[in-house]
Amino acid sequence: MIDLIKNYSITSRRVKGSAIRELLKLTNKPDMISFAGGLPSPESFPTESIAEIAAKVLKDKAHIALQYTETEGLIELREQVAILMKKDGIHVGAENILITASSQQALDLVGRVFIDPTDPLLVELPTYLGGLQAFTAYGARFIGVASDNQGMIMEDLESKLRKLQLSEEHYKFIYTVPDFQNPSGVTWTNERRQKAVELSNRYNVLLIDDSPYRELRFEGKRPDALHAIDKEGNVITCRTFSKIFAPGLRLGWIVGHKNIIAKLSVAKQSVDLCTSGFNQLIAAEFLKQNLLDNHVKKIIDIYRVKRDAMDRALEKYMPKGEGISWMKPEGGLFLFLKLPELLDADDMFHEAIEKKVAYVIGSVFHCDGKGQNTMRLNFSYPTLEQIDIGISRLADTIKERIVKLKRR
Ligand SMILES: Cc1ncc(COP(=O)(O)O)c(C=O)c1O
Repeated sequence: MIDLIKNYSITSRRVKGSAIRELLKLTNKPDMISFAGGLPSPESFPTESIAEIAAKVLKDKAHIALQYTETEGLIELREQVAILMKKDGIHVGAENILITASSQQALDLVGRVFIDPTDPLLVELPTYLGGLQAFTAYGARFIGVASDNQGMIMEDLESKLRKLQLSEEHYKFIYTVPDFQNPSGVTWTNERRQKAVELSNRYNVLLIDDSPYRELRFEGKRPDALHAIDKEGNVITCRTFSKIFAPGLRLGWIVGHKNIIAKLSVAKQSVDLCTSGFNQLIAAEFLKQNLLDNHVKKIIDIYRVKRDAMDRALEKYMPKGEGISWMKPEGGLFLFLKLPELLDADDMFHEAIEKKVAYVIGSVFHCDGKGQNTMRLNFSYPTLEQIDIGISRLADTIKERIVKLKRR
């Protein structure tokens, strides 16, 4: 075989296989309880409705469903998505919407259209690993912005923007996951959102709002969408049907200024020509029949119970007085555990696997190479029983580590 290393493109050489995929291979053992994935619970899928609607689509609209469709997405779905967005205070027309093969493709398209190699991007510490991977492919350089339980810290963002402006660097966008963030579970307050939009206008920088979990709020009041605050057209919103309908349909959308949507559509043409028409018609019909609101309520009821069960299990099993902390998120799929600085969750991973419990190491979400004392725990996929047993196994792993450290 030829020497492929010489033939691989710079882009493909930039992208390394995900460290967590390698670690996740270890989690396939029997009896393993995994908090590592980010999967919705299969009981949350509206299987019967999808079966009925799919049959109807094939009966009435096979000529559209099975055909190539326009790159921007079918007008039926874009109109329904516009109605959905209006309920979130975002007043846009079909021309502001691009249907994508879910939000991962949206992130790739944003990277393709905006990033030149070495461009600085501002991201939260921590942030979504898939976002870092998508932008790395285009040669982005990440500047981590400190975050706390209220979202990105605006003073840090402003000081970093100011520095970039002074050095005349061509910064492109701020990537945010402001609702029940993956991995931290944090939701930005209204105050931080207002400030972020103000800064994006003052410093002439786009704000990318990637919000797959926004609808999954278990309690409390939803803050305003960044897009609803912005009056200048500087916010690009990425949304998905993955967590509120079914990830297997691979359907999402981007909302943005019509010129940006046109540019993203051209980029999408070369990626996949169009998103599946069949899947788009199923989603459009589900929305048209007004089934989404009740369905999301059902999902919320399932996940709230699981979130509570994980929080209770952590209270019950984690050692007290050792500096272990977590925030109970008001929605989403994840809980983020912080260990004392000396406890290295990367290092402890194999010990946890021995005890048949898995998590995602928090360091992979930190573009500055830190976060070794953190881990992401998913509560949507495991059963209630698995949550209780798994957290007790995790607590035992941590306790053994603490004992070892104290002996040193
Ligand atoms: C923040 C964030 N963005 C994007 C995605 C990609 O999701 P999808 O491509 O299924 O819409 C995920 C998946 O977990 C996510 O957590």
